Amino acid sequence: MQRLLIVSNRLPITIQEKRGELHIEPSVGGLATGLRSWYKSSPSIWIGWAGIGRKKIKKEKDIMSRLLAENCHPVPLSQPDVEAHYYGMCNRTIWPLFHYFPLYTEYSDDFWQAYERVNMAFANVVAGIAKPNDIIWIHDYQLMLLPRILREKLPKATVGFFLHIPFPSFETFRLLPWRQQILEGLLGADLIGFHTYDYTGHFMDSVHRLLGYEVAMGQITADDRLVKADAFPMGINYEQYSNVDQDLQVQAERKRFRRKLGDCRVILSVDRLDYTKGITQRLEAFSLFLDRNPNFKRRVILVLLVVPSRTRVEHYMQLKKQVDGLVGEINGKYGTIGWMPVWYLYRSLPFHPLAALYTLADVALVTPLRDGMNLVAKEYTATRVDGKGVLILSETAGAAQELGEAIIINPNNQEEIAQALVKALEMPEQEQIERNRVMNKRLHRFDVVRWANEFTEKLLSTKKLQREMEEKALTYEMQRKLTGDFQHSDKTLLLLDYDGTLVPFSAKPAEAIPGDRLLRLLGKLAKNHKTEVVIISGRTKNTLEGWFGDLDVGLVAEHGVWIKEKGGGWETIETLTSDWKKEVHPILESWVDRTPGSFIEEKEFSLVWHYRKANPRLGELRARELINNLSSTVASLNLQLLEGNKVVEVKNAGINKGRAALKWISREKWDFILALGDDWTDEDTFKALPSTAWSIKVRFGTSAARFSLSSPSEATSLLRKLVRGR
Ligand code: ADP
Ligand code: G6P
Repeated sequence: MQRLLIVSNRLPITIQEKRGELHIEPSVGGLATGLRSWYKSSPSIWIGWAGIGRKKIKKEKDIMSRLLAENCHPVPLSQPDVEAHYYGMCNRTIWPLFHYFPLYTEYSDDFWQAYERVNMAFANVVAGIAKPNDIIWIHDYQLMLLPRILREKLPKATVGFFLHIPFPSFETFRLLPWRQQILEGLLGADLIGFHTYDYTGHFMDSVHRLLGYEVAMGQITADDRLVKADAFPMGINYEQYSNVDQDLQVQAERKRFRRKLGDCRVILSVDRLDYTKGITQRLEAFSLFLDRNPNFKRRVILVLLVVPSRTRVEHYMQLKKQVDGLVGEINGKYGTIGWMPVWYLYRSLPFHPLAALYTLADVALVTPLRDGMNLVAKEYTATRVDGKGVLILSETAGAAQELGEAIIINPNNQEEIAQALVKALEMPEQEQIERNRVMNKRLHRFDVVRWANEFTEKLLSTKKLQREMEEKALTYEMQRKLTGDFQHSDKTLLLLDYDGTLVPFSAKPAEAIPGDRLLRLLGKLAKNHKTEVVIISGRTKNTLEGWFGDLDVGLVAEHGVWIKEKGGGWETIETLTSDWKKEVHPILESWVDRTPGSFIEEKEFSLVWHYRKANPRLGELRARELINNLSSTVASLNLQLLEGNKVVEVKNAGINKGRAALKWISREKWDFILALGDDWTDEDTFKALPSTAWSIKVRFGTSAARFSLSSPSEATSLLRKLVRGR
């Protein structure tokens, strides 16, 4: 089994100094609580900050050995770096911005420099521990530069990254002065995971818009690497929570709580004290609920369990005061002798009393304004073994995408929360059982083990794919072999795609004109008496004629509709009609209307919808919709749909580049064939080749081609070698 190195800012245990003495305590927050129960089940090491400065750790040998006994390796950080990294860049900049609190966000160069230094310090520790076969799994927003630094230090390492908080929309992310460095930092990983598809989409969007990389179907083609991004909603240790009812310690704690709570119904609220959790709004909604429903007075208690968090950050200090004030206000306003509406606990509870509160609560009120996932909602639901109990959950928590049977509310709508409380407290038992049954089934199947396994499996499969592509890369030695073969052959055929192969893509097709240097190169190749050059393109015959008409080359236009032999005229491959266009054109027009930036290109026997300039996510979505929409029309009119690079093309069935290429392939006894192509439409050419041919895909990606080159400039430099003979 491969060793796993978990890397997160915080270790699962934190050292705290209390009255001059150091104590080890479990760390709070979903990342630590979620992963803690799982990481020991595999051979793993956890690398992170221990919560105190490096001088203190060094002095306390005992603490160090206790950390190592837990497989935890502390990263030594100086106090000033902790101040500017953890209390600065992490929790005054990234945390508020990524949770859509731009007004709380501070931008400081000092914070940023500390962020770089701390990520580097982590990289030094990880690189010192990592062995070649390890899986390195980096967690969360405090370490977004680490994947790239590690990639530079350990180019072959298997590196995954998981973000436990939301990835904001492009409009919000772009506000960050260091947005580019953050994205490049993340792209050092092989796989980047998020809690939801929305966050994944936001990330892909930003990568495309800010770095210009091609993104499609969860895959990013960075300069020379393929990186994957996907959604992996984090689960909990389901066994542990679903069995708490049986636990004697939990039963004892529950009795103790019950004695104090009397026979009041219990509404439970559990979070770190964080402004993203919507605690003040929740209290106000509870107050409104009591106001509107006097019949519930003296019959319900809100247990407000709040863990101290980031207490030195100003907005957290202010929040503490606000919560204290609101609790006092509500208790003062509605409380009576013998009934305190809000029970306020400001501390971290050990597992057993926390679980006892979960099992006791009639309602869990989980109303964050924004939350990457929210494990509290899942933990509460998992304890509902008898099926009773109601979860009220905010639509802006990642967990809402999996727990749709909860009462879903908008956390800013206090009226709605107050009504949800009534609904929850009055919900018939059978309905509660039915809702919890469905949610529990899901939580059981998608627990934390499955989450971690799915992530690591996908990470390993991404690595495998990268390796296969690397193996396909046309190395320097292979290029020498190829040029040698070419030199020693008497009849050579070059089948060359144009866009994306000989020239890079431009936003508008008309702008991708061949330069003089490329024309000279093609001219020289074509002049060689033993060589036949054919340009096989999706372009119109007029365009190809205009660009290459003076060269002594064969041409194929519109993906195989038109063929022109060297020195001959244009012919269609078979008799074709274009009557169908009047039916298809209006459909494409309506897609142009619905997709800003897209447009239609009309060719003699085909229609093409281009969406390269459209918003990438919208473009992909609309392309899928268009393909679905056209499928029946296409079948009835004997047409076919081709999906190229950011294009959907409709044309007569049975026409493709492979069929056109066969005209040349089958005509002579070639002793050397080279085919270059970059996209889906070139796959037909590759498939039509004899097995001895040199087939090269000019881009990363799966392909029937035997080899790959990474860019058009590499492709043209290979062709130059053929001209030079070396
Ligand atoms: P976040 O990661 O933002 O803190 P989550 O809801 O995902 O939010 O995770 C919170 C974790 O902390 C849960 O596992 C929960 O059990 C734990 N937790 C929250 N409040 C307390 C508390 N007062 N005492 C102990 N554990 C707590
Ligand atoms: C959230 C974050 C974690 C963080 C935790 C506790 O869960 O996603 O990365 O560790 O909160 O916050 P803290 O600042 O105490 O580490």
